[in-house]
Amino acid sequence: MAGSNATTRRPRARKGPYGGYDRKRDFATDDYLTRVGRGTPGGEYLRRYWHPVCLSSQLTDVPRRIRILGEDLVAFRDGRGKLGVLELHCSHRGTSLEFGKVEQCGIRCCYHGWQFDVDGRILDTPGEPEGSPIKKRVWHGAYPAREWMGLVFAYMGPPEAAPEFPVYDAFERENPEFVHRYRESPCNWIQVRENEMDPIHLAFLHTRLFGVQFQPVYGEIPTMEWVETPIGMAYLTVRRWQDYLYLRVNDMIMPNVVRVAGIEDAEGETVFDRRGSALNWVVPIDDTHTLNIGFGDIDKDLLLDGRQSYTDRMKRQGVYTVGAGDVGQTGEPSYEQRQRAPGDWDAWTSQGAIASHKREHLGFTDQGVVMYRKLLREGMAAVEAGKTPKNLHLKKLVGPLLTYCHNTVKRVPRAATETTDRANAVAFGREIFKRIREGQLAKRHPGAEYPADFEFTPPKS
Ligand code: FES
Ligand SMILES: [Fe+2]
Repeated sequence: MAGSNATTRRPRARKGPYGGYDRKRDFATDDYLTRVGRGTPGGEYLRRYWHPVCLSSQLTDVPRRIRILGEDLVAFRDGRGKLGVLELHCSHRGTSLEFGKVEQCGIRCCYHGWQFDVDGRILDTPGEPEGSPIKKRVWHGAYPAREWMGLVFAYMGPPEAAPEFPVYDAFERENPEFVHRYRESPCNWIQVRENEMDPIHLAFLHTRLFGVQFQPVYGEIPTMEWVETPIGMAYLTVRRWQDYLYLRVNDMIMPNVVRVAGIEDAEGETVFDRRGSALNWVVPIDDTHTLNIGFGDIDKDLLLDGRQSYTDRMKRQGVYTVGAGDVGQTGEPSYEQRQRAPGDWDAWTSQGAIASHKREHLGFTDQGVVMYRKLLREGMAAVEAGKTPKNLHLKKLVGPLLTYCHNTVKRVPRAATETTDRANAVAFGREIFKRIREGQLAKRHPGAEYPADFEFTPPKS
């Protein structure tokens, strides 16, 4: 009957005022990209890399229950100092090893005393008769673990595919002051990580809309470009600040690590500053919960004469703390406080437990998000095809890997017109980035001098 069809068929979505009724409601999630369980494309891809699972300081004399990539695990450091990352539930009858006893060798289950070594070997089944074969027959699930810079890492992929543990130049900094970060978000990991390739939100969320979380320079709309790098991708943003151009480059290190340049150097002339700022991993707890873990690191002694940057001012006043950048990064403030001054945590968690990409209307400023998703898909497809995804290093690494993240602030007077000034800003960012890519900046530690002949001459318009 024509009439029944007329009542069930929805008209095409109308574009116009009060169009709520006609909006399409297909907000399905992208399972290929977002799922992290074993056997899923995303889960298998992520399982090819080392990930931090907790802080070293969180391992005490009692076991620590953790959940990573949808797997319930227990982490501990035994009496020999060896790290264990084991399946949570005892191989005997499933009691949680979070109630176990950390032993000189491995961990012992609280219920019937079975003892497991850090590699999953069963060392003792005390209630079983002498000669019981269980110890030899059964292995408990275990993952290799290691410690670095106050973080405990695990590798949860196939043992034969275990990569080298990657060390990057920016990690090998001299004299840093570390403040570790550990935060959880009730949402999918990709929306947390995408935030870092979305530099324009600094102007709105962090600066213009709710009072200044960052310095006023971040209220400027920067020029923005995104480029692929050997380790992943990076964004180049250039902001005009008085007589200066301020280039900020941040790295996305595939698949889930970012190296973020300090927000402190924007207001003074700091050519190729590498005082550091933050390195963090976004690690899926499961499909809808995410761990943000890493550290802020900044050279605590690097206070240079004539600098006027935020860090230096705070240091002179004796109130400097590395963790100051945590504003808006957790759900701890009250709901009303978060409504009145939301932060990154509110932005990414409110996109949904798993943000639907079908809801989105992406624009020019979302190119970084698009590029990041593309790289993730390529990585997942590579693993599915038995190939090596980007930035997975199966062969021994010779020296640290090159990163690109840094700030450069240079005096470049404002051009006569806004259009020319923006063009100069883009040219400035490309010129510095080109020099980095070509390896012209060999000394990459804090305080390293940029080549003395460094000049930037705006191109003729
Ligand atoms: S359940 Fe762990 S030893 Fe029995
Ligand atoms: Fe942010």
